[in-house]
Amino acid sequence: MSTPETRTARVIAIANQKGGVGKTTTAVTLASALTRMGERVLLLDLDPHACASVHLRYYPDELTSSANDIFAEDRPEPGKLWDSIRQHHPTQEFDVVPATIRLAELEVDLRNRKGKGAILQQSLGHVRGEYDFILLDCPPHVGILLVNALVACDLLVVPIQTDFLALHGLKLLFDTIKVLNKVLPAPICYRVLPTLHDKRARACARVLELLDLKMRDSMFRTVIGMDTHFRDASAQGRVIYELFPDSRGAQEYEDLAKEIMEL
Ligand SMILES: Nc1ncnc2c1ncn2[C@@H]1O[C@H](COP(=O)(O)OP(=O)(O)OP(=O)(O)O)[C@@H](O)[C@H]1O
Ligand SMILES: [Mg+2]
Repeated sequence: MSTPETRTARVIAIANQKGGVGKTTTAVTLASALTRMGERVLLLDLDPHACASVHLRYYPDELTSSANDIFAEDRPEPGKLWDSIRQHHPTQEFDVVPATIRLAELEVDLRNRKGKGAILQQSLGHVRGEYDFILLDCPPHVGILLVNALVACDLLVVPIQTDFLALHGLKLLFDTIKVLNKVLPAPICYRVLPTLHDKRARACARVLELLDLKMRDSMFRTVIGMDTHFRDASAQGRVIYELFPDSRGAQEYEDLAKEIMEL
């Protein structure tokens, strides 16, 4: 764990434009796993559907400020902005910036804004000193929010369901990375995370082999298996560690957190 003096957060974007591959589950569970290991964590919900926010019991209809404010032209100065958008339930382990559906309007709102891809990166500069990790839960499509996340991150985690069709469509994400790499000072560092893996299915084992072959060093050693406890926990607005700390899923995300801390 870094000391407050040396602390500067590593920003981790969790993205894949394919829906339902475990992005939000990874963001929420990893945030909790890292916090339990003594790390200071901020989770930022960048998905207009606000699934991470709702999972953590921040309901868009009740919010007066949200992640959208980071991108607003008339936003307050950074200190005030971050004070107003960061939330922390008394029982919660980490800070959260929840999302609302208004994020969906950014594509149009930012159309003519100069430097629109680096807004998040610049704004995060004001709070990086307060955390060890800042996690970004990205929406399942390519657009200005994903670009902001990719520009801001030090590590991109790409959850991939070990299902044959899940590999199809990854090209769009990697094409976006290629385009950004041409203008960024350093190429985007990424790691693939196999998720929703069904250990009994031969087809899943084959996809895992394929991923291993294609991704080699860019793949986490940890594989996240199927575990119904994730659904049960999110239905109750809780993180898996609060309800099922001994479950396999809880253990696997702890392994992932350790791997990330070693990177
Ligand atoms: N390892 C797992 N085992 C079983 N169910 C899982 C696992 N990971 C996620 N799920 C469940 O799968 C569903 C989709 O997961 P999640 O919301 O994390 O995906 P997502 O990639 O964020 O989806 P979206 O693209 O819609 O944002 C949820 O109901 C979640 O509880
Ligand atoms: Mg999601």
